[in-house]
This record gives sequence, C-alpha cells and structure tokens, in this order.
Amino acid sequence: MAAGLAAMQFYFVLILFASLCHWLLCIELDELDKDEHSGLLHLIRRIRLERDSDTIVIYGSEPCVFHELLPQLGLPTVLLSQGSSWEDWSFSSESLLLICNSNAEQEQNRRTLLKLQQARRLVYLEAGKKPTEVCEAYFEREQVNVAMVDAVGNLYSCRCFQQKNYVQLALNLSDSYQTESTALVNLNFDFDKESDSNSHYDSIYVEQFANMQGSPIRTEPDQVGPRAFIYKNPSTGEYEIKGFVSNLITSFAERLNATVKLRDDFGLGQKIHMKNIIQRVLLDQLDIAATLKSTVDFENFDYLSYPYIHSSYCFMIPVPPRVDFKEIYTLIVHPLVTGVLIVLFLIFSLLLIYSQELNWRRFSLIEMLLNDRCMRGLLGHAFPMPAHPSRYLKGICMLVCFASIMTTTMYESCLQAYFTHPPHEMILRSFEDILTSRYKIAVERGEAIGYLLRNFSLTTTNVHHVHVLDDWQELIRLRETFNDSFIYPVTEVRWFSLKEQQKYFREPVFYYSQDVCMKHFLLLSLPLRRHLPYRQLFEQHILAMQEFGISQFWLRNSFNEMIRLKVALRKDYSHPEEPEDQLYVRDLTNILIFYLAAHLLACICFVLELCWARIFGIK
Ligand SMILES: *[C@@H]1O[C@H](CO)[C@@H](O)[C@H](O)[C@H]1NC(C)=O
Ligand SMILES: *[C@@H]1O[C@H](CO)[C@@H](O)[C@H](O)[C@H]1NC(C)=O
Repeated sequence: MAAGLAAMQFYFVLILFASLCHWLLCIELDELDKDEHSGLLHLIRRIRLERDSDTIVIYGSEPCVFHELLPQLGLPTVLLSQGSSWEDWSFSSESLLLICNSNAEQEQNRRTLLKLQQARRLVYLEAGKKPTEVCEAYFEREQVNVAMVDAVGNLYSCRCFQQKNYVQLALNLSDSYQTESTALVNLNFDFDKESDSNSHYDSIYVEQFANMQGSPIRTEPDQVGPRAFIYKNPSTGEYEIKGFVSNLITSFAERLNATVKLRDDFGLGQKIHMKNIIQRVLLDQLDIAATLKSTVDFENFDYLSYPYIHSSYCFMIPVPPRVDFKEIYTLIVHPLVTGVLIVLFLIFSLLLIYSQELNWRRFSLIEMLLNDRCMRGLLGHAFPMPAHPSRYLKGICMLVCFASIMTTTMYESCLQAYFTHPPHEMILRSFEDILTSRYKIAVERGEAIGYLLRNFSLTTTNVHHVHVLDDWQELIRLRETFNDSFIYPVTEVRWFSLKEQQKYFREPVFYYSQDVCMKHFLLLSLPLRRHLPYRQLFEQHILAMQEFGISQFWLRNSFNEMIRLKVALRKDYSHPEEPEDQLYVRDLTNILIFYLAAHLLACICFVLELCWARIFGIK
C-alpha cells in the first residue's frame, strides 16, 4: 500500500516536472518565435522558390526549431526522430530535408539514402560547430545539396570542388525590414540574374557538379565490339576510350569539366566479361562502366542508368545459298499458277467452241480438252482464223491473244531473271525451322542457354542443334569472323555494326532475323555506382544525346569509326561462289526432260490416232 502511494507521488512529481519543462520550452520557443521564426520561415519559403518541394522530412528528435514551423508550412511531413528510417521509403526526390543539428541525420537505410541523395538539406547548426566540418561530413556521404543556418541567423551553403568548401550567403535572417511580399518579388527578380554577384541574394543551392574542375570519373570499357574500346591517340600518346557507349561518357566528362580515368593495368584489346565489370560497379570501384546491360537482369535501377538504347535480341542466321540453276525451271512452274492457266485454257476453248455458231453443236470432249486454236493461241503461236468470223469470235480471239502475251512474257522474264541472278533458298522463319535446318545455334553456357530453355521447346531430341561454348570469347570470335556454320544470338545494336561490316563483303553472309528472337524488346543501360552523386546529370545527358540524334549517329558510325582508328580491319569474311557466266546443258536437264515427255506424249497420241483410223477405216 505504502509502495503504491509512493509510486503515485512519484508520478505526480514527474507530471508536474514535465509540465514545467513544457512551459519553459514554450517560453523558449516563443522567444525564438520573436526573433527567428519568421526569418526561418522566410528562408524555407525561399528555398521552396528555388525548387518547390512536396514533402518535408525532419531528422532529429523534438524539440527542435523546425518542428515548430510545421503548422505554418502546411506540407506533408515525415518525422524521423531516430535519425534513420527503418522501412524502405520511396521518398519523392522533391523532398526538403530539415535537420535539427549536424549529427541528427544518421541514415542507414540504403534505399532511403539513394532516394534522398539529391534532395535539398537545411541543417540547423548548433553553437560551436564549424560549417567546414559539416560540409566535409556530408560530402563524404556524397550528399551535396546542404545549407546550414545557425542560431544567429547566418546562412551557409556547401560547395564542392572549391578551395573553401562552403560559402556564407548574404541573406540575413535577422533582417526584419522586408515584408514577405517584397522579399518574394526580390526573389523572383533574383532568378533572372542568378549569376550576378552584386545581387543581394545568391542561390542557396547550386549545381555542384556543373564544373568538376578536372575530377576523375572512373570508368572501364568492356572492349567488346564497337560500343567501347581503347585506342592510343597518336597525337597525344594517351590511351582514350571510343565507341558509342564510351562517347557518351567522354562527352559527359567534357560537359562537367571532369576527366575520364581508366584503370592503370588495362590490357589493350582484352575483352572483359560483363560479370567482372558489374562486380566492380557493385563494389563502388567504378563510377560509370562503359558497357551495356539489359534491365531485365536487375529488379530496380539502383545500379543502372536511365535506358540508353533499346534493342531486340534475336538470331543472326547465315544467308541461305542460292538456288541451283537446275531447280529454277521447277521453281517457275508453280502448281497454283499452272492450275490457273489450265482453267483459263478450258474456259477459252469453251468460249471458242460456242462463239463459232453461237450454239453447242460442235461441242465434244476432245474439242474442249485439246482445242488446237486455243492451245496455239495461249502459247503465243499463230492459229488459223475461220473464214468469216462473227464479232463474238473476233472478241474471243483478241482475249486469247492478250492472255497469251501476258503469260508468255511473264514466264520469259521470270526465267531469264532467275537464270542471271538465281534467288536464295527459303530463309528460316521460326525456331522449328532452325531445328530442322542444318545449322546449329552457338550459345554461351549460362546466360543464353537459360534463355533458350525457357523460351523454346528445346528437348533432348533436338538439343544437338545447340552448340554450347564454355568460353564466351570463343563465341564472340566465331561471330566476329562470320563463321557461317552457326546461328548466333545477337542484339540488334551489335548487329548494326556487323551489318555495316558486311557492306564491305562481296556478298552478305548473315541476315538478322526479326522473327526468331530471344527477346523482342530490351532496354539497355549503363551500369552505375549506386550512390553516384551526379546520376541525374548523367541521365539528363543521355536524354540530350538521344534528343539530338547523336546517339544514333554514334551507333551507326561505330564500325567506320573503328576502321578509321585502325582498331578493326576491313576484311572480307564472305566466301562467295564464283558466279557462273555460262549455262551448261546440265542446267537445263529439267526443261529437257519436260520437253522429251511432251514429245513422247505427242508421239503416243499420233500412234493412237493412226491405229484408230486403221481399225475404224476412216479415210
Ligand atoms: C545580420 O544582422 C544582424 C543584426 O541585424 C547583425 O548583427 C549580423 O552581423 C548580420 N549578419 C550578417 C552576416 O550580415
Ligand atoms: C576545368 O578544370 C580545370 C582543372 O582541371 C580548371 O583549370 C579550369 O578552369 C576548368 N574550366 C572551367 C571552364 O572552369
């Protein structure tokens, strides 16, 4: 009982004490209100004028001066009193971070860190803390948009890449002579001449990476094909990176006045596997890797840039050989067309029979099937006209002549064109076609084989159509030398340069199949370090290059660029058959066989007719 009473007394004292504290605090905050509140509010309004924010995030536990401002700000607010968020927040990048003191922000959550990296921060500088130290600490964490305000009302802003890592801004929060509206007018005015140093207001937050003063951007080209390769610039003696992906990085570095830094021990022309590059990106050893990675392998874009290029991922298939001369005749006599011609023949002979006397008296089966005039007419030969043809008959004869001209010229031109330039055999249009063809699909173990198994009906019976290579460089070597015993999976982006290369061949060796694909649509991005502070600038650069068509220009020009820099050779990997400029009798075998068969048929008919005449005694 006594213990209970004591506890109650204790609580009472505690509550009293808490109320006292609260009262004291209110007095303190009221004091603040008088000389600082409006100034701070003014400052936050000004920050929001530079770039509007839609969320406020407050780091630090109550009581803190920023908490008192919340009612006046009237924005959605997240309070992180522990200094870190335990949940994966997907903050909007338009958040404004208010930080109660220089140690209040201790964000551990990597996702939140990434989301809030670009956000603007306003730190309430406690007494005795130097702005340099705070800026240094924030720069180490790669958070660069930091401003500080102290109790007296001095405003500081951090600046990267400069001798002194912060500036003091002339905005004096203790100045109370300005009403808010004039301040806003002045601020708007200020935007127009931001760079004017005489202006009363400087920008609080600046684009820190607009001039990196020659700081390095670490990169590494994979040296696979024309997207990224190293070459030695003969005029400077320096090694440089080129290619349509490397150009993006070098032009970006130029834009930011940065330098591109390669590893010291790179091997010239030594291809590097994607896995190794990604590994180095994950370990933060590279800023931007000069390679392309499809977005399907990553669940988010933390390690990838905005998509640079889209592409399909299909097969390049050897161009089928030309049709043999012998086959051409059979190719031309297409059954359907022949059928149509026979039907036409029958119709014309019926019309001829009828139009002679405008009745069916002369009709007989023989007359219809073997109509002498119609046959000669359709084959483009002369045939006897009856002595006094009616106008119907004349009309029908005209039609026969017209049909004969059409069919004979058509066949003639087809035949001659094919003989001078034989067509190709059927191209492969589906995965089933490939499995029944004589070609094998060359793939690298691991990556591509997984794709194949997932997307196609690859079973144990047709698995011998796949040639699995353990060495990925061997696969690339086979593909680059246009070895036409295999079918290779290739991205359309890569195909551009292979196609360009093929233009120097005497005849194309491969074609890119849009029908047989592993993936019809891929987005390709550059791997980036997760907390790259100038990620947004890089993404803007990608968009700008695409917008002006420069990416496309680089892409289409990539092979010729390699030739120009003498990194690739213009070698003809095709082995065309010597074009035959004569026809041999053997090429006409089929025609001759057809001719002989027709003659034989004619002879048999003749013999039958003779026998017929002898037996029935017709003179
Ligand atoms: C701001 O104004 C106060 C009083 O008006 C003054 O004491 C202080 O030195 C000023 N600070 C700056 C940076 O001008
Ligand atoms: C670019 O950086 C260099 C230092 O590497 C510096 O000397 C130069 O002034 C910078 N250029 C501009 C336009 O600021």
